[in-house]
Order: sequence, then structure tokens, then C-alpha cells
Amino acid sequence: MRVRTAQVLGTGTPGASSVRVDVYVKPGDAKRALRAEALEGLCNTPKELSPKWLYDERGSQLFDDITRLPEYYPTRREREILLAHAGDIARLSGADTLIELGSGTSEKTRLLLDAMEEAGALARFVPFDVSEAFLRRAAASLAREYPGISVHAVVGDFERHLGQLPGGGRRLVAFLGGTIGNFKPAQRALFLRELSAGLQPGDGLLLGTDLIKDRERLYAAYNDSAGVTAEFNRNVLRVLNRELGGDFDPDAFEHFAPFDEENAWIEMRLVSRQAQTVWLSTLRRRVDFAEGEVLRTEVSCKFRQAQVEAELAGAGLTLTEWWTDAAGDFALSLALKR
Ligand SMILES: C[S@@+](CC[C@H](N)C(=O)[O-])C[C@H]1O[C@@H](n2cnc3c(N)ncnc32)[C@H](O)[C@@H]1O
Repeated sequence: MRVRTAQVLGTGTPGASSVRVDVYVKPGDAKRALRAEALEGLCNTPKELSPKWLYDERGSQLFDDITRLPEYYPTRREREILLAHAGDIARLSGADTLIELGSGTSEKTRLLLDAMEEAGALARFVPFDVSEAFLRRAAASLAREYPGISVHAVVGDFERHLGQLPGGGRRLVAFLGGTIGNFKPAQRALFLRELSAGLQPGDGLLLGTDLIKDRERLYAAYNDSAGVTAEFNRNVLRVLNRELGGDFDPDAFEHFAPFDEENAWIEMRLVSRQAQTVWLSTLRRRVDFAEGEVLRTEVSCKFRQAQVEAELAGAGLTLTEWWTDAAGDFALSLALKR
């Protein structure tokens, strides 16, 4: 595969680190992939799309807004664990390179970078995300904040480009925010196996998982009273309109995110308020929705410790630490490649 590599020497700020950006998801590839997925996912019953399409620039900004909502506890809980244990993570991992998958703003990650810097170990940060504009901005800010380290951003899809993670040094891969929960079990096993296959013995994985709790709190976290999550969810319809020449009316779909006890996941749905037909001109396809018909846009699995430990072990990763916040809402696992 050809890689468009932009080597930016300096970031315009004296003393700032250099930023290198490797792009594995070019706009044309993303459009082709969305076209293929939409043909299958919107034309089948039940209708479903991958959550990665929620994250264009506006979607990434809306997710960032979600992390500050009173009902959305995962970000605050994960930050609480990082505040308590970032030093332990730096020491136990012994890493000089931090790779962050699905990095977004990397806001909480600064706690880890600070701890690694304090331990005198930090040499390189590799933020990896599918949302290019957002990632470029985050990488430039990080390079200004951490002069002297190398910032090597990767615009990639973690379902396709794990083989492109830069090697060298002792690496810690952080996968935070509970994003692993967006994989269904079979996809998750595949992802963990692929990730583990690319690690060297002694490399580590720091994994954030949201834990099973009472359904009211789970429901509130994904159905906030300000309607930000609803806007985030409906954003995928704007993406389809822009990228595939669609004529979705986002207001004709209701956001609903119930907890499915059997699968232990929150399911983000867009529910058609009426019978309607949408035209996707790029696909030359009509998509019919019955009244009440659901388009599933994301699942967010919730976990227990034994399950996380077993899934990591199945991928050749040994759980060495399990930390939770004081309320037991969220967990961070540190696992090492055997
Ligand atoms: C739930 S947000 C978490 C953001 C951040 N890590 C946090 O903890 O707040 C998921 C992030 O993963 C990115 N993402 C989603 N699907 C992806 C994929 N297939 N490949 C790479 N990044 C992806 C999104 O752009 C977004 O930044």
C-alpha cells in the first residue's frame, strides 16, 4: 500500500517537536469503503453501519462535547484512574513509546505522557485515529506541549492498519475511552489477536473498559438530557448525505440507545419516525424505512474483570494490573505481551 507521508519539520512554535503524519486512510479510500458498507448495511435487514462513520470532524467534536456531559461518567472515571496510576503505568510498562489507538483529542493521555516524561522515559508519541483533521490538530498541540519528543501521528483504521504501527523501542499501546466495547465479541477477538501479533514480548497494552452496572445509569450516559448524543448519532446521516449524495432528513430519525442485557451492550439506534424513502445518488439506490425501523450505528459492550482477563489471555496478553475508579464504574487493565 502506498502511504502519503507528510513530514512537518517543526510546528511553527520555537522549541516544538517535529510532527510526522502517515496517512493510510485517504479521503478516496474512505469514500469507497463507506459506499461498500452502505450498500450492504443500509440495504439489509436489520440496517447497520460501523461506528467509525460517526467520526467526521463534526462527529469528533460532538464526541468531545459528550465527554463533558454530567451523565457521561466513563471519561471522568477513566481520568480518575489515570490520575491515581499513571506513575505505576509508566514504571510497570517501562515504555519509551506511547501509541494511542482511537486517540481523539488525547486529553486524558497527557496524564500518561507526563508520567512517562517524569520517569525520564518518554521518547515518542504515536496518536492513531481515523479522523484526519482532528488528529492533525491534536498532534500539533501535543508537539507544542511536549517539545523534545517525536510525535508520529497515523491516520488509519484500527481494523485494517494495525500492521502499520511504527516499531522500535519499548511500546505501550493505549486503547482508552471504552472504545474496545464498540467491537462485537468475534470482531474484538480478531482485533486483540492482530494487535498482539504485532507486539514484541515485553510490549504492553493499556485497555480502558466500561463495566456492567445498573441499567438506569448506563441508559442516562447514552441518552443525555441535553441531546448531544442524539446529535452525535444523527451526524452519521449528515455524513451519508455529504459523502454519498443522500437526502436523509436527520430530524426524521429519533435517537434511542437502550441497554441490551443479553449481549451486555448499549445499542445506539436511529429510529425512523415514519415510513420514508431516502435516495443515495452516488449509489443510485433507494433505501426504504418502515415507521419504527431501526438503523444500528454503534454497540458499546460493558465488561467484567474475568471476561477481560480471559479475552486478553486468548490473544497472548497477560493481565498484570486491573485498576478501577472508587465507584467501580470503569477499569483500566495493563497487560503484557508474553
Ligand atoms: C469513543 S472515542 C474515544 C476517544 C478517546 N480515546 C477518549 O478516550 O476519549 C473513539 C475514537 O476512536 C476513533 N475511531 C473510531 N473508529 C476507528 C477506527 N476504525 N480506526 C481508527 N480510529 C477510530 C474515533 O475517531 C474517536 O476518536
